[in-house]
Amino acid sequence: MMNVNVEKCVGCGQCAKDCFPRDIEIVNGKAKINNVSCIKCGHCIAICPKDAVWTDEYNMEDVKEYNEEEFLVDSDKLLNFIKFRRTVRQFKDKEVEQEKVLKIIEAGRYTQTGSNMQDVSFTVVREGLQELRGLTLESLKKKGEELLGKLTPQTMRFKRYAEMWIKMYEDFKSNNEDNSKEKDKLFFNAPVVIVVTAKMEVNGALASSNMELMTNALGLGTLFSGFFVMAAQDNKKIMDFLEVGEGKKIITCMILGYPDVKYFRTVPRKKADITWK
Ligand SMILES: Cc1cc2nc3c(=O)[nH]c(=O)nc-3n(C[C@H](O)[C@H](O)[C@H](O)COP(=O)(O)O)c2cc1C
Repeated sequence: MMNVNVEKCVGCGQCAKDCFPRDIEIVNGKAKINNVSCIKCGHCIAICPKDAVWTDEYNMEDVKEYNEEEFLVDSDKLLNFIKFRRTVRQFKDKEVEQEKVLKIIEAGRYTQTGSNMQDVSFTVVREGLQELRGLTLESLKKKGEELLGKLTPQTMRFKRYAEMWIKMYEDFKSNNEDNSKEKDKLFFNAPVVIVVTAKMEVNGALASSNMELMTNALGLGTLFSGFFVMAAQDNKKIMDFLEVGEGKKIITCMILGYPDVKYFRTVPRKKADITWK
């Protein structure tokens, strides 16, 4: 429930004006939150100049008072940061600290969701990586064989991938014992994998994007594995292993660790495809 401290409330109406589901009215000079259509977005908490709104729904200690010094990000720096970000496929043989993993997840937790659903979940895989690697490569091999078995002009462009998946599985099987470093084309010998799941795809994707930025800010690197998502999405064994929640889909798989690679500059891109009307 969203609550108003009537002692503090001055009835300015800012909360009512900013309430997207129109759940707040001003009665006798005080804000009244009906808690009927409320989506618990917290705008009323954030906007109140008197700090009069609170909730027992979430931990109020999460709420931080704004100050420019701590919150403002320079736009040129932000753009450079986005431009300099690279997919990392070479990782150091070094663990990622738990507090860094939690900070990355925090960036995902605070990302906006449609209707404030907050439907995004995270499975962190560390100890289970070898088991997950096995399950994933098994699934990819099966997909590869199926694809090669019924190639059509439409699927021809995936032939290269199908062959690669089968080869990855064979390499995994033959190196299972010595766990050869060079041949992990799936997780690239990274120490941590975070699988992001959500009910709505866009929610998980937006969260993942912020998580990637945080990863970079922490001096870590990430690779989004499309191969993994393809292998895992309809695979019960993998879904069970990851304990994917009811009604949730795997949205991204973030492979992360300390980069064992250094970039000196940004990369070029296609011109922006913009339509001005
Ligand atoms: C949704 C998604 C899935 C991806 N899947 C893979 C993958 O399975 N394997 C891989 O090596 N790279 C994968 N990538 C990385 C892309 O190849 C990479 O982002 C692109 O080449 C641009 O390079 P950059 O990220 O360094 O700018 C994926 C990227 C995204 C956004």
